[in-house]
Amino acid sequence: MAIKLNETYLNGFVSGEEIKKSLHLADASCELVKNGTGAGSAFLGWVDLPVAYDKEEYARIKAAAKKIQNSCDVFVVIGIGGSYLGARAAIEFCTSPLYNNLKKDTPDIYFAGNTISSSALQDVLRLCEGRDVCVNVISKSGTTTEPAVTFRIFRELLEKKYGEEGARERIFVTTDRARGKLKEFSTQKGYETFVVPDDIGGRYSVLTAVGLLPIAVAGIDIDAMMKGAADVREDCLSTPCASNDAVRYAVLRNVLFNKGKFIEILVAYEAAAQMFAEWWKQLYGESEGKDSKALYPSSVIFSTDLHSLGQYIQEGMRTMFETVLDFKTSADTVVVPNDPNNIDGLNFLAGKELHDVNRTAMTATLLAHNDGGVPNIVLEVEKRDAYHFGSLVYFFEFACAVSGYMLGVNPFDQPGVEAYKKNMYALLGKPGYEDHKAFLETKMNANN
Ligand code: PA5
Repeated sequence: MAIKLNETYLNGFVSGEEIKKSLHLADASCELVKNGTGAGSAFLGWVDLPVAYDKEEYARIKAAAKKIQNSCDVFVVIGIGGSYLGARAAIEFCTSPLYNNLKKDTPDIYFAGNTISSSALQDVLRLCEGRDVCVNVISKSGTTTEPAVTFRIFRELLEKKYGEEGARERIFVTTDRARGKLKEFSTQKGYETFVVPDDIGGRYSVLTAVGLLPIAVAGIDIDAMMKGAADVREDCLSTPCASNDAVRYAVLRNVLFNKGKFIEILVAYEAAAQMFAEWWKQLYGESEGKDSKALYPSSVIFSTDLHSLGQYIQEGMRTMFETVLDFKTSADTVVVPNDPNNIDGLNFLAGKELHDVNRTAMTATLLAHNDGGVPNIVLEVEKRDAYHFGSLVYFFEFACAVSGYMLGVNPFDQPGVEAYKKNMYALLGKPGYEDHKAFLETKMNANN
């Protein structure tokens, strides 16, 4: 498996007996995923996706990506949650968080519609001034407020700048195959559309057109990404559940949760993995955070955050464990120079490769956090590239589904996300929400 589980830093925190007990439940949960017999089984399309994707659409994604690369300086990707995080995570993971600032022959890529902040939107609009722009609006439902409002603004901008015909060549829509306002509208306008499959929820959709189109525009090898996912899929489906590292990861989080470790921190020593951690947080938070239970998923980038949250992790409440992404190699080589005068006293590092120093910082931190009572799961990954991004995506998706079933929740719904929307629609005066608005106003008056 491209992702290897290292349990060295769990010694003294998790016993073989505890793992053995939990494996039975894991085995049954894993079978629910494999056989499609668990809650939410209508949303298991991601299981076979890396091998059973729509080849015709995949070719269209590649062609559209080329067209976008050739016709714009700025590519604006509009979407929120599962319709946003995966693409951004992949681009930063495979290139750099500074992708837009690097010398490249692909367009700058900005993400919009993932907030209601007027300043955030205005910033992207300013960055589009005087430059050629293409837009990809992504919304499975086609009704989510944040991307819908943002798309209205960008559509107006593109139609003013290029005319209706010209705008049609620059707007790409990823949405439901047949339903929803966005689909209806795109058909009317004649936009090129891509599909979010019915059986794949937002947070599991990065390897569909949702993620693949923006990722391909960034010049990333999506074939390698799919291959990485397909290889891990093969491992997950062909090895017995108990000897599969993704299932084992689900088991370990389950054991730790039952021992009072209520917070899981995903740790990486690369800033390029920060958005990957955001994607991971949505995957686990939205899949498991139900029925008043589940681990709270959080993340840090070390060594950066060792100088902010490090103190808490070392000595604060002992309710957390860490899952560390250990990237064994780096594509970039930086060697610490020698200084004959050694004024800064750093010659003990002279000649050392910075990536090795970074990994030494990791070992030092693992040992320190273990001493401080924090268990650590380590996931070894050879390097940050498209293949390993795909591998990690499938690894975590499979583990998440198993883990959700172990916890006794449906890992594929998100009923709680509706609560704020209902209140927001009522307070903003959306037709049909009049009674709920009256109810909220009574509540707010009583609170005053
Ligand atoms: O995972 C999910 O289902 C959510 O995060 C959705 O992706 C998010 O709410 C956006 O929904 P939509 O794609 O319908 O606009």
